Amino acid sequence: MDLHRLSTALDEFRDLDRARDTELLLAEQLAFRELEPIASAKRLSYELMETATGARVLDVGCGPGRDVRALAARVAPNGEAVGVDRSEAALDFARRENSHPCASYVTGLADRLPFASESFASVRSERCLQYADMPLQMVREMARVTRRGAPVVLVTARAFLKAGEGLDPKVTQPRLERAIPTNPLVWEFLPLLVARAGLEGIQLHHDRALLKTWEEATAALSLRLVTAWAGDAGSADQSSIRDWIERCQEAFERSAVAIGLQTLVVVARSPESSRDIS
Ligand SMILES: C[S@@+](CC[C@H](N)C(=O)[O-])C[C@H]1O[C@@H](n2cnc3c(N)ncnc32)[C@H](O)[C@@H]1O
Repeated sequence: MDLHRLSTALDEFRDLDRARDTELLLAEQLAFRELEPIASAKRLSYELMETATGARVLDVGCGPGRDVRALAARVAPNGEAVGVDRSEAALDFARRENSHPCASYVTGLADRLPFASESFASVRSERCLQYADMPLQMVREMARVTRRGAPVVLVTARAFLKAGEGLDPKVTQPRLERAIPTNPLVWEFLPLLVARAGLEGIQLHHDRALLKTWEEATAALSLRLVTAWAGDAGSADQSSIRDWIERCQEAFERSAVAIGLQTLVVVARSPESSRDIS
């Protein structure tokens, strides 16, 4: 794994307000969420939250707020869907583009949630854990604010690339990993973090799907970000990244390479007794 690239990606998404190009990051998030494997993981997460009319539910690291609006529609007309995020830029966007009579947006940190204990019927978080300063504390906070015995849902995703004829996987795979670093915390260790936070009855839902168009592949691999960040410490320069992307597109279009997305949705329950939270 290329740690320079990983730290660039983490720094940029950790604090969108201080990112070099906040608009670009928000646009990438919006394109990413429209991809069918992501949209389907989102729908599954809403189901697993067991959202019902009148419930008060929370989305941690809500970003541009589309999930909050979707949840608001499910708890309407007398429930509340709350989105919390550290980024004012993301929340401004959410309030502007994803307002709903049953939605509200709050500034706050995932590892110090500004809510009372057991004040939500269910809580979700998608692709936020890797940016929290204290990920275990973040999951514990999600458990704390959730009613006892109620669901806590975490969603994550990663891109994969399968090279076929014409692209040597030994060459392509390391290139991809350098371009799109995946923090092991969010994938390999996610179920472990959930268990360590004292949540119970953990279930994992894995899915994977291949992408059909190059436009989808561009969004899945965040290639606009990869290009924008070219030349950062430890990464390839702009022209060799462009060259790699062109070769990748050409291989994709003649089906010599398959690009897909894997999603992981973890659901567990807040412990029945507060003593269970370690
Ligand atoms: C990759 S985006 C995902 C946004 C949204 N959940 C979605 O699925 O579209 C990560 C979001 O987490 C937020 N974030 C990162 N670290 C955070 C923290 N410590 N506390 C609260 N929000 C955080 C960022 O501001 C950003 O909006």
